[in-house]
Amino acid sequence: MKTAGIIGSTGYAGAELVRLLSAHPQIDRLVLSSTSFEGGRIEDVYPNLIGKVAAPLVSGEAVVADSDVVFSALPHGVGERFARLCMDKGIPFIDLSADFRFGDDEETFSAWYGKVWEARELHPKAVYGLPELNRAQIRGAAIVGNPGCYPTGASLALYPALKLGLIAGGTVIIDSASGVTGAGRSPSQATHFPDCSDSIAPYKVGDHRHVPEIARNLAIMAGRPVPLVFTPHLAPMNRGILTTAYAPLAAPVGSAAPASAPRPPNKEMLAVAASVRAAYAEFYKEEPFVRVLPSGAIASTRNVRASNYCDISVHIDQGGTTLIIVSAIDNMVKGAAGQAIQNMNIVLGFRETDGINAIPAAF
Ligand SMILES: NC(=O)c1ccc[n+]([C@@H]2O[C@H](COP(=O)([O-])OP(=O)(O)OC[C@H]3O[C@@H](n4cnc5c(N)ncnc54)[C@H](OP(=O)(O)O)[C@@H]3O)[C@@H](O)[C@H]2O)c1
Repeated sequence: MKTAGIIGSTGYAGAELVRLLSAHPQIDRLVLSSTSFEGGRIEDVYPNLIGKVAAPLVSGEAVVADSDVVFSALPHGVGERFARLCMDKGIPFIDLSADFRFGDDEETFSAWYGKVWEARELHPKAVYGLPELNRAQIRGAAIVGNPGCYPTGASLALYPALKLGLIAGGTVIIDSASGVTGAGRSPSQATHFPDCSDSIAPYKVGDHRHVPEIARNLAIMAGRPVPLVFTPHLAPMNRGILTTAYAPLAAPVGSAAPASAPRPPNKEMLAVAASVRAAYAEFYKEEPFVRVLPSGAIASTRNVRASNYCDISVHIDQGGTTLIIVSAIDNMVKGAAGQAIQNMNIVLGFRETDGINAIPAAF
């Protein structure tokens, strides 16, 4: 049994780590940090956690000193010193911020996040923690850069299509809608109830900082640069990310393309959709957390809520030229805390599903 430490435990991602790790079969103790609530208890901030962690909130340094594995759920650019402390102690550090997602490419990180690294020597040790892409490298890693929430949903949606050459070399269009917890716990005008409820709107159109992470993932998956357009939306819900990706089919459906006018699906188009769906299902058949949905089903955030699943549905447009893939994740779980625990399980050699195999809460 191990002690897990969580730095930044009072944020949304940190509190989700507490909730999930409290029920992890290989973790018998949690130590938690907070700067704003140091000396207090996590249950005073999150009453849903009453009785789960008795010890008071301590400093990040104290968390490292008392842990066998450390999660950092701090904002970007403030947690590298804790990674250094973990390396000195010889324990794994799993970071939910963007600090360790870019390998040794500080230029890209700085250009999009407006910060420089303070522990440059550590970055070559970091592994990008998307298990479906990088499982072998994650095993035994010293530092894991847990993926961003949008990059998780978008990358898993497109991985089989890119790897298997199901789509041609044109631009991939990705629309994603996120629940408001994606913005973290600090209130802002955009997340104020009257501003974000009962309405949906895009934001950071054309310049969201998850673009370089998505672009890097897609290029690795395809073995070539993949031109992309990404538009995030803020959806009036607490949790979830729904991603719809559009890409030109490598082999458009013969008799249907190019369609001069929309028409209902014909037999040939349905057969192509079925074969792409079968290729997706085969590609992900060993993945414990990716569910490729059967024909007729469409991925939805409600069916992955509070779970580590990524649901994927595969479709073809009425013209027979475009592959449409829909993915759904819970941004707080597969998009953050659950994936971080999946990474810990791989790093420490636990069963990959330990602590994160709950069935989604659909309502
Ligand atoms: N929310 C998501 O869906 C999501 C998904 C993927 C990744 N992430 C990443 O996970 C990390 C945490 O996200 P979150 O949504 O949990 O954020 P959050 O709700 O704002 O929580 C961050 C916590 O970090 C602590 N903190 C310590 N030093 C800080 C500093 N200098 N400035 C601000 N806060 C500081 C704060 O707690 P104390 O004041 O108590 O110390 C705060 O509660 C971020 O890097 C985020 O990008 C979040």
